[in-house]
Amino acid sequence: MTDIKKGLVGVVVDETAVSKVDPETNSLLYRGYPVQELAATQPFEAVAHLLWHGELPTDDELATLRAEERRHRALAPEVKAVIDLVPTAAHPMDEVRTAVSALGAAELGGLSAVASGGTAEQNLDRSLRLFAALPAIVAYGQRRRRGLEAIPPRDDLDYAANLLWMTFGEEPHPVVVDAFNRSMILYAEHSFNASTFTARVVTSTLSDLYSAVTAAIGALKGPLHGGANEAVLDIFDEIGEASNVVPWLDDALAQKRKIMGFGHRVYKRGDSRVPTMRAALESLVAHYDRPEVLELYTALETEFVNRKGIYPNLDYPSGPAYSLIGFDTLTFTPLFVAARVTGWTAHIMEQAASNALIRPLSAYTGPAQRRVPGYEPDE
Ligand code: ACO
Repeated sequence: MTDIKKGLVGVVVDETAVSKVDPETNSLLYRGYPVQELAATQPFEAVAHLLWHGELPTDDELATLRAEERRHRALAPEVKAVIDLVPTAAHPMDEVRTAVSALGAAELGGLSAVASGGTAEQNLDRSLRLFAALPAIVAYGQRRRRGLEAIPPRDDLDYAANLLWMTFGEEPHPVVVDAFNRSMILYAEHSFNASTFTARVVTSTLSDLYSAVTAAIGALKGPLHGGANEAVLDIFDEIGEASNVVPWLDDALAQKRKIMGFGHRVYKRGDSRVPTMRAALESLVAHYDRPEVLELYTALETEFVNRKGIYPNLDYPSGPAYSLIGFDTLTFTPLFVAARVTGWTAHIMEQAASNALIRPLSAYTGPAQRRVPGYEPDE
């Protein structure tokens, strides 16, 4: 009997120096640094540099990266034109996936499939361009669905504040910028999750970085992965208020529903990122004076953990946090894309630097060999 590891559970498929998830110590390290320490001290741009280069930037390196990021921030007219062709009723993840694909088509120009794979230097440049371009794509998506025009970027604002500016057209409060910046850092990287593995599979064929990221966006869309932050808010809307949690949960569990925002393939005793994001949510609840959000959050968490012993993952606190900031529920997973593109591209560059085609085997369970009706073998 072949030993099949369905869902690749417990299978170690390669090495990585990008991040380490340790369920035993409940820790997540980016290039050796605890993610909660990064979230407390660093701008998201510095974490992007860390993931790509292996070290935090010096002041000069950070200034250079910020200048490059500003240079590529604006929504390119050809990408905007493609986005405008996507129906506003389409899921925003379909829109973001299409926009990234269009960026690739524009930037890879007339390169052959072999040449478009790119050198290490080209991949670094493409990573930065995508990182810089995604905020305008995500912000315009939300505005477009509300019937509003795109807002041009502001050169005097750093990454997090500028994304909020392009979405809402208001100078964001420092408390909001800080909470949002933390969420981007927490979402940036998480080892061989489904979307990162997808990006590595595509890269292993020597395809280009834009194709790998486009495929990763498709994987992230699923509600068992990135789509869960959107689903958490749907659940909050269904429950309404903290006093409804018990009857709602009785009903949901009787129907064997999965409660989105809880559970994790790797962490079984709680997601290492949740305490930091919960603290960010608490700061937003205080800033917007919305205590009922935290009441519902805590009531559902307490009740579900007591009954099932399954803990929240990062999507649980980030969903209500993004909602308080003013993002539409449908924009949550695109924000995850804007953050995770840093981790994806770090893995793409790592895979490309030490490549082996990823091509597993399968155990065949279909019919035994048989003859096609009408086929007459030559004697
Ligand atoms: N709600 C209800 N039951 C759950 C949940 C949940 N959220 N998570 C796990 N379980 C139960 C399963 O029903 C299963 O029960 P059973 O053994 O009686 O059948 C058991 O716990 C094991 O669950 P699996 O789904 O087999 O565990 P796996 O490791 O494959 O699942 C996963 C991990 C997919 C994340 C799962 O916990 C889940 O579906 N959670 C909800 C979706 C979600 O929040 N995804 C976000 C992931 S993190 C991120 O992308 C930032």
